[in-house]
Amino acid sequence: MKRTKIVDIFAPELIGNQVSVKGWVRTRRGNKNVQFVALNDGSTIKNIQIVFDMEKFSDEQLKPITTGASIHVIGQLVESMGKGQSAEIQAEQLEVYGTADPDSYPLQKKGHTFEFLREKAHLRPRTNTFGAVFRIRHHMAIAIHQFFHEHGFFYFHTPIITASDCEGAGQMFQVTTKNLYDLKKDENGSIIYDDDFFGKQASLTVSGQLEGELAATALGSIYTFGPTFRAENSNTPRHLAEFWMIEPEVAFADLNDLMDLEEEFIKYCIRWALDNCKDDLEFLNNMVDKGLIERLEKVIDTEFVRLPYTQGIKILEEAIAAGKKFEFPVYWGCDLASEHERYLVEEHFNKPVIMTDYPAEIKAFYMKQNADGKTVQGTDVLFPQIGEIIGGSVREENYDKLMKRIEELNIPMKDMWWYLDTRRFGTVPHAGFGLGFERLLLFVTGMTNIRDVIPFPRTPNNAEF
Ligand code: 4AD
Ligand code: MG
Repeated sequence: MKRTKIVDIFAPELIGNQVSVKGWVRTRRGNKNVQFVALNDGSTIKNIQIVFDMEKFSDEQLKPITTGASIHVIGQLVESMGKGQSAEIQAEQLEVYGTADPDSYPLQKKGHTFEFLREKAHLRPRTNTFGAVFRIRHHMAIAIHQFFHEHGFFYFHTPIITASDCEGAGQMFQVTTKNLYDLKKDENGSIIYDDDFFGKQASLTVSGQLEGELAATALGSIYTFGPTFRAENSNTPRHLAEFWMIEPEVAFADLNDLMDLEEEFIKYCIRWALDNCKDDLEFLNNMVDKGLIERLEKVIDTEFVRLPYTQGIKILEEAIAAGKKFEFPVYWGCDLASEHERYLVEEHFNKPVIMTDYPAEIKAFYMKQNADGKTVQGTDVLFPQIGEIIGGSVREENYDKLMKRIEELNIPMKDMWWYLDTRRFGTVPHAGFGLGFERLLLFVTGMTNIRDVIPFPRTPNNAEF
C-alpha cells in the first residue's frame, strides 16, 4: 500500500480511507484501553495522532513505541474527536522499523535548550523547531531561485577553490596537498607552492563576486548561490566559517538600481516565507519569538531608509551629544560597530536602512569611487535584530582608477589580470551585492544564533558532524 505523507493526510477527502503512514514517534500516552501516539514524518510540523485500541494490540507489541522510534502504521483515517487535530488514524497494522532506547535517545519529550541541541546536530532536525527551520531554509532557497529566474537573471556557478582574494581581508582557508611536515621554502622563508596541486597558493573562496562580474559583463544579469568560507576568528551569533551567499551582479546598473534590487529581492523572499511556510512560522511565532510574524509583515510594507554614511555618522554624533552611550567611538571614517547599526535601525528609524557612500578606506578595492575622492558607492543593508544582512556596491569600471586602488592596497596583480580585462575590453557600469543566506534565515525564523539556521555549523573549534 502506498505511503501517505503526513503533510497530505489532512485533506478532507481522505477521511474514511485506509492509509499507510511512516515516521518517528514523538510521544505516546494513554491507558490500558487505548494508547495515543503522535507521529511525525518531517513533511510538516504537524503530527498525526494514531489511536491504538488495546483490545486489538498487546502491551508487548506497543512496548517498542517510545519517543524516537520509527514505525509504519496502516489504519483507517477518521475525523478526530480530540482537540487540536482534524483527523486521526485508527491503527490496524503496526510495523516497527527501529527502536530508540529511552535511556540513551537524547531527544526526550521535555524541551531542550538550543545549546544542548547544537551538540546533537545529527539528531536535532527531528525536533519541531529545527524541522521548521530547515523546511523554511529549503523554501527560502526556492524563493531565491524563483525571484532571479522571474527577473531574467542566470544562475552562474563560480569556483569554490580560488587563487584570488575578493574581499582582501586575508581570511581565507588554504587548500593544499603539500606535506605540511616537510614544506619547501625559499631563501626568505616563504613557502614555495610551485609543486603544490595547483602550482600556486590556493584557497576556499570568500565570495564569488569577481567571477560573477565576468559573467555579468557577458550575460547581463547573473546570480550565484553557493558556499563561501571565512577564517575570521569571530565567535559571534552572526558569523560562520562556512556560510551560503547569494550574489547577483547586474550590468548597466547604478546605485539606485542596486538599492531597488536589494529592497525588492529581500521583500520578495520574506513575502514568500509568509505565503509558503505558514505552519512553520506560526510554530516559531508561538514557541521562539512572539513578534516574528508581525515583524515580517511590517518589513514588506515598509520603505527602507536610504542613508549616506556621512549622514549616519551625524545622527550617531547627535545621539551621543544627547546622552546615548556606545561602547565604541563614532567619528567620520570609523567602521560602524553593530551597536551603531542597531541604534540607527532599531531606535532612530525603526526601519531597515540601506547605508551608502562609505569612506573608501573601510571598504573593498573594487567599489566605485565617488567624485569627492573620499567615499565609494558601497551599500550595506542593515536589518533589525541582525545588523548587516547585505553588502554590495557599484563596481569601479574605470581601468585607471581601479588599477590605482589595487596598487595603493598592494593587491598582487598577477592574480588579477583576468578581472582587469573586464575593464580593458568593453567595460560597463555594473553593480551587485551579497546576501548572507543564514542572516536572512535568522530574520525569517526569529532564531538568534546563526549556528541554529544551518544544519551543521562550522565555527572556530567546531567542525563536528
Ligand atoms: O559584506 P560582504 O563581505 O560582501 C562580499 O563578500 C561581497 N563580495 C558581496 C558582493 O558584493 N557580491 O559579505 C556579504 C554578506 C554580508 O552582508 C553578510 O550577510 C554575509 O555575507 N556574511 C556572513 N554571514 C555569515 N558568516 C560570516 N562570517 C559572514 N560574512 C559575511
Ligand atoms: Mg560587509
